[in-house]
Order: sequence, then structure tokens, then C-alpha cells
Amino acid sequence: MEDSSMKIVIINGSARKGNTLTAIEAFVKGALEKNEIEVIEPDRLHIAPCKGCETCQCYKGCVDSDDTNPTIDKIAAADMILFATPVYWWGMSAQLKLIIDKCYCRGLQLKNKKVGVIIVGGSPIDSIQYELICKQFDCMASYLSWDMLFQKSYYANARDELAKNVNAMKELEEIGKKL
Ligand SMILES: Cc1cc2nc3c(=O)[nH]c(=O)nc-3n(C[C@H](O)[C@H](O)[C@H](O)COP(=O)(O)O)c2cc1C
Repeated sequence: MEDSSMKIVIINGSARKGNTLTAIEAFVKGALEKNEIEVIEPDRLHIAPCKGCETCQCYKGCVDSDDTNPTIDKIAAADMILFATPVYWWGMSAQLKLIIDKCYCRGLQLKNKKVGVIIVGGSPIDSIQYELICKQFDCMASYLSWDMLFQKSYYANARDELAKNVNAMKELEEIGKKL
């Protein structure tokens, strides 16, 4: 897809060493050779939820003096953002949504990014949750003129289940390699 190396930021929406991390690692295996990659683990950071104070005016950064600004700085500096999330209650996890909400503080500087989405849920792939989450990302992509490179959904419930899905592992590695 791309000739030159990219700065890729991956946001891991899962707190456990499970399927989302497995999916991320397969992608990284393919993408690492040509690209610079950083994985953000929201669960390990101290980030307060957006209070909607609007002080940021969508470009000034956040008034919170926690890990918000350094995290959003990394996202703003990236060529590509990979959003990876388990399905929680038919939606993305709170950990990922927290970061996305805080992206508002520099939203105007997040336009025209390349974007990928990985979703792992415990229900079969024809269930509505995958469609709902993909649609939400489609709306963000349209609003911020993102180039949506891929959206991939996988069915895996037990923590080690996705690792046993050879086709999924190959597919994600291949996606990373082709960037
Ligand atoms: C709080 C919670 C809510 C969940 N809600 C859903 C759901 O609505 N739909 C679904 O398909 N799976 C749901 N799951 C299952 C997870 O998406 C699934 O186990 C996934 O593989 C977890 O990814 P992880 O191993 O990366 O944490 C839920 C799991 C938890 C812990």
C-alpha cells in the first residue's frame, strides 16, 4: 500500500494479555520491518475522561495534567493509527473510547491520518456488534478525512483463542507487511 516508512501508533483497548494483544502482535510482526511502531496501553496510563470543558478548542491540548497530552501528542505525530479493541457490550472498550474522547483536545490536528481497526469479540462474526463498531469508526473517518486502510473483526473468546486461528494470524501479519 505504501512505499515509505510510517510512524504507526497502536492503541490497545484491552487490559489483559489476550486476543486483542495477540492480534496486535501478529500485525506488528508484519509491519515492524518497514515501520516505526509504538503501542499505547491506555490501561497503564493515568488519563481522566474528557469533561467537555472546551478549553482545548480542539487544538490546544488538554487542561488535564495527567498522561493525556503526552499520549495525544504521540497520536498527532503518527502517520497511521491502529485502533484495536475487544467488544464490550456491543461497543469498543472504555479504555479505547477514553483515548478517542481525549483526542478531541487536538482533533483538528488528527485529520488525514491513515487508520486501521481491529475488533475481537466473543460472538460469531455475523453479530451486529462488529458492524456497530465499524460504523462508528466510519463516522470518525469521514469527519476527520481519515484514509481507512482496513477494518478486521475476529471471533475469539477465551484469552488464547485467537492465537489458534492460523488464518487470522496470517491475515494480520500480511496486512502489516503490505503497508
Ligand atoms: C465486559 C465485557 C463485555 C463483553 N461484551 C461482549 C459483547 O457485547 N459482544 C461480544 O461479542 N463479546 C463480548 N465480550 C467478550 C470479549 O469481547 C472477548 O472475550 C474478547 O476476545 C476479549 O478480548 P481480549 O482477550 O483482548 O481482552 C465481552 C467481554 C467482557 C469482559
